[in-house]
Amino acid sequence: MPPTAQPTNTAAWIRTRNGAFEVGPAPCTPPGPDQIVVRNHAVAVNPLDWVIQVAGRVAYSWLTYPAVVGADLAGEVVETGSAVTRFRAGDRVLALAVGTDRDVDSPAQGAFQQYTVVPEVLAAPIPASLSYRDAAVLPLGLSTAACSLFQTTHLGLRLPVAGAPPAGATVLIWGGSTSVGVNAIQLAVAAGYDVITTASPRNAGLLTDLGASRVCDYRSPTVEADIIETLSDRTPAGAVAIGLGAAPACIRIAGASRGNRFVSVATAPVTFENGFSLPRTLTGMVGGVLRWQLAARRRGVRMKFVFGSDVKKNDVGPAIFRDFLPAALAEGRYRPLPRASVVGTSLAGLQKALDQQRRGVSATKLVVEL
Ligand SMILES: NC(=O)c1ccc[n+]([C@@H]2O[C@H](COP(=O)([O-])OP(=O)(O)OC[C@H]3O[C@@H](n4cnc5c(N)ncnc54)[C@H](OP(=O)(O)O)[C@@H]3O)[C@@H](O)[C@H]2O)c1
Repeated sequence: MPPTAQPTNTAAWIRTRNGAFEVGPAPCTPPGPDQIVVRNHAVAVNPLDWVIQVAGRVAYSWLTYPAVVGADLAGEVVETGSAVTRFRAGDRVLALAVGTDRDVDSPAQGAFQQYTVVPEVLAAPIPASLSYRDAAVLPLGLSTAACSLFQTTHLGLRLPVAGAPPAGATVLIWGGSTSVGVNAIQLAVAAGYDVITTASPRNAGLLTDLGASRVCDYRSPTVEADIIETLSDRTPAGAVAIGLGAAPACIRIAGASRGNRFVSVATAPVTFENGFSLPRTLTGMVGGVLRWQLAARRRGVRMKFVFGSDVKKNDVGPAIFRDFLPAALAEGRYRPLPRASVVGTSLAGLQKALDQQRRGVSATKLVVEL
């Protein structure tokens, strides 16, 4: 279906590896058969966005430049591909942009521009009551949580449905106040699972409201022993490890527990908040992964890294973005979290948003309105 008027596009380009954003004209790219084009009204910032900017030599080293990064967007559908039946022009949607994925590597599919081409399978209609700024917080956190919990390559839990009966099993979500964590808690609870999680005490109330049965402070010296004790009379369904130090802690806990000794790992062993050095990163990455794998093997624990957009390739994508989320949002059964904090109102505001995200946030998603 052709757009009614030919739009002009503007993008926040990264022209060279590790380069700064440069706002400038961009092509208007038509959708492929299974894609839609969204006029973005709000985009949200993820750690990945500044990690690519800071550590492009190792993080997403396949990206060709100039590149348009960004994963989270919400806006209005302006054009649909020939095979798309679920959306039409004018629909309000949220969507996960996958332009930086290795198998995509396409600036037309990055979120940080006015018009983004997204896979239909990673888009969901949003109710009229939900603002674009609030909707934009969800896509990557949601898909990463769904990948961790539901893919058969990971925890393989049963899917969320309205009024799910109790599953009779407990999931550990380490890092519950992260973007990924608040989505993982909501999805696991909606699938009928009991949830134990970790966060700073200031966020415990929020996570209990989302349905977590216990929130432990991940900085407490007894946190692992406390969780092992709590799990001792429950049936563990596995763990999702989010945040620095989460994977080794979850491996130790899973190793000391019964049930499904599986850890879905969202966070790599090295961080880039304090900058990038190639030797330090390579040593930290290779050494860290080897240490985790050895620790897991010694304890009879299986672990697997998560790649949030993998849900585009399997049944979990449609199960969440098509079958679960739209009705759950419309009926108030799913909350758009973490709460949005608008830190910019144009593409020119993105660098400030990325820098602020890099300094750290707590149960908050930084959003730029467009
Ligand atoms: N593999 C993937 O596909 C994928 C996709 C998305 C994100 N990620 C990764 O997942 C992690 C979380 O990303 P995000 O965007 O969800 O994060 P975020 O929202 O920026 O995380 C902020 C939260 O991190 C929590 N936190 C800080 N240090 C922690 C620790 N050591 N253990 C547990 N929680 C800690 C803070 O909790 P309190 O304020 O409560 O202390 C804060 O609420 C990052 O490492 C990111 O790179 C991976």
